This record gives sequence, structure tokens and C-alpha cells, in this order.
Amino acid sequence: MKHEPLVLGIETSCDETGVGVVRGHTLLADAVASSVEEHARFGGVVPEVASRAHLEAMVPTIERACETSGIKLRDVDAIAVTNGPGLAGALLVGVAAAKALALGLGKPIYGVNHLAAHVAVDQLEHGALPEPCLALLVSGGHSSLLKVTDVTTGVDPMGATIDDAAGEAFDKVARLLGLPFPGGPHIDRVARDGDSVAIDFPRGLSARRDLERHRFDFSFSGLKTAVARWVEARERAGEPVPVNDVAASFQEAVCDVLVRKALDAASSEGIEDLLIGGGVAANSRLRALAEERASKLGIRVRVPRPGLCTDNGAMVAALGAEMVARGRPASPLDLPADSSLPVTSVLA
Ligand code: KG4
Ligand code: ZN
Repeated sequence: MKHEPLVLGIETSCDETGVGVVRGHTLLADAVASSVEEHARFGGVVPEVASRAHLEAMVPTIERACETSGIKLRDVDAIAVTNGPGLAGALLVGVAAAKALALGLGKPIYGVNHLAAHVAVDQLEHGALPEPCLALLVSGGHSSLLKVTDVTTGVDPMGATIDDAAGEAFDKVARLLGLPFPGGPHIDRVARDGDSVAIDFPRGLSARRDLERHRFDFSFSGLKTAVARWVEARERAGEPVPVNDVAASFQEAVCDVLVRKALDAASSEGIEDLLIGGGVAANSRLRALAEERASKLGIRVRVPRPGLCTDNGAMVAALGAEMVARGRPASPLDLPADSSLPVTSVLA
């Protein structure tokens, strides 16, 4: 029987300290410690607070992952770590921990790209990744359309946000509506009792003149401003703000654009598999709309379960295991943390 690589993966690019253990496509442990509550009162992630929290959570999270999976550190075939993109100080903590483990255990280290890891994680749930596939990655930090031909060597960016990330827009609009941070799940929840066509909010970069230059790019900052203006006008007039309708109409505007552009990108490349990842992939309307429109085009949609969509160590281990399985070279031990690592670079 083929040996399936046993890999421990470390993720610290934002506010989640994730340590996952994977054997081939099988998830053995996914330990996550989040500092999200420490950032809540600031309405966004504070880099220094996140770095400090990673430092404190790292060793206990590694121990938890080993306990859950029942593995001994010396049994792993490799250590994988997110070395970018992300918050510089936060990435450094994970990269330093991974180097210490690799050196101490005498195992190879694989620096992996965070965005490619969001794609690779789906293998843990749905089996081997269809390649090529089109990935729509939407989270608090990124909104990208990627063409994935080989997840271990590089992914082609087809489009990205030119301003706010999709999750950031959810968080900002939630704040405007008096909902807690992170706002995405709250918007999702209150939108269920709202009317998604009550307010006609703008669809960013969807006008004909924008499509020439930005066919596969996103913009959410105009939408956020439109929601703010709409809410302010209501408040000025002394009228109550219909929170459910605003949330539902805003969510519809975001999901409409995300799904339309993702399916356009897939169709234009003749790709039949769309993968959605990142924290916003947990959105119920995004999933439903993608399924509905994709099925009409004969495109299959894969969305990992919410726990695997948000940042975690299992996704890093999944990509690391794939690199080992495909015989990719390990990274040097002086592998740098690169906060702006381009998505085209998967191999460190
Ligand atoms: O992937 P993730 O955990 O971390 C980043 O890399 O940013 O994504 C977090 C983002 C937050 O902006 C959060 O509001 C959003 O994902 N999010 C959602 C939902 N659940 C999480 N957005 C919309 N609907 C949801 N159900
Ligand atoms: Zn992420």
C-alpha cells in the first residue's frame, strides 16, 4: 500500500492559532485557539494582540493536536507552516515554531501559501481535488478568484478585491447595524427574517465599463458606503432601521456578485468545478445561490464544512501532505515569513 504522508500543519497568519494533523487526505486533528474575542472591542484584528496570543497558544495547541490525533511528534513525515500571506508578526510566530519542530525532530519543513491551503483543505472532506478547478476564496482578509491547475505548484489569480475583502464588508456593515464582531454570522442570521430585494444596493464592478478592466475583480467599499448612507438617511428622518431587510439586501448584493463572477470565470476557462473557501463560505445564502446558479451551467460546487473554511491548521497540513505525496522539494530552514507572499508562489 502507498505510504500516505503524516504531516503536522501550523497556521498563524491572522487571529487563529491552528495546528492540524493529516495523513494523506484524512484529518486526524484540527486544534484551533482563536484570539477573536480579544479583538472584538476594536472591531477588527489588532496585529500585536494577535502575535502575542499566538505565542501563548502555540505550545498548548500543538499538544492538543498530538493528543487528539494520538500521534507522536517523532512519527510525522514533515512539518508544514503558513509562511504568507498574512500579518507579519503573526506569521513569524508560526514559522519560528515550525522551524524549531523541524530542526528538533530532524524532519523537513514545507512553507505553504495560505490561499492555496484554503483550496487544499477540501481534500479532507471531499477527496482528491479536481484539477483544474476554480476557487473563490472569501474571508476577512481576502477575496480572490483563482485558477488551480496544480495546488502544490502555484495558482493563477484571475481576480481579487480592489478594496475591502468580502468578510471585511460583512464585518463593517454589521457594526453599522449594531451587530457584534465578527459580523458575518450575525448578518447571515438576521438576514433570514429579512427581504433580500427590499433595497437595491449596488453591485460593485458590474457595470459594462468596469467589466472591461475588472471582469473578475471585486469591490465592496462602494456597497458599504451605500449601506451607511441608507441607514443614516433613515436615522436622520427619525425612522426605525429595518435591520433584517438591510442585512438581507446587503448580503444579496455581495453574494450575487461573488457567484456571478466566479461562475463567469469558471465558464470562461471551461472549468467544471467551483470550490468556495474562507470564512465567508459559511454564508448560507452564498452556498445556496452558488448551488442554484452553478447547477444550471453544469458546474459542480464544493464547499468544505464551516470549520474547515475558516483559518485552521488542518488546511496547512493538507497542503503539506499533498506536497510530500507529489514529491515537491522541502523549504530551506531559513524560510522567511512573507506577509505579501504572492499566490502564484506555493513553493517557498
Ligand atoms: O477565514 P476567516 O476565519 O479568517 C480570515 O482569514 O479572515 O474569515 C473570517 C471572516 C469574517 O469577516 C467573518 O465575518 C466572515 O468570515 N464570516 C461570514 C460568515 N461566517 C464568517 N461572513 C458571512 N456569513 C457567514 N455566515
Ligand atoms: Zn484565510
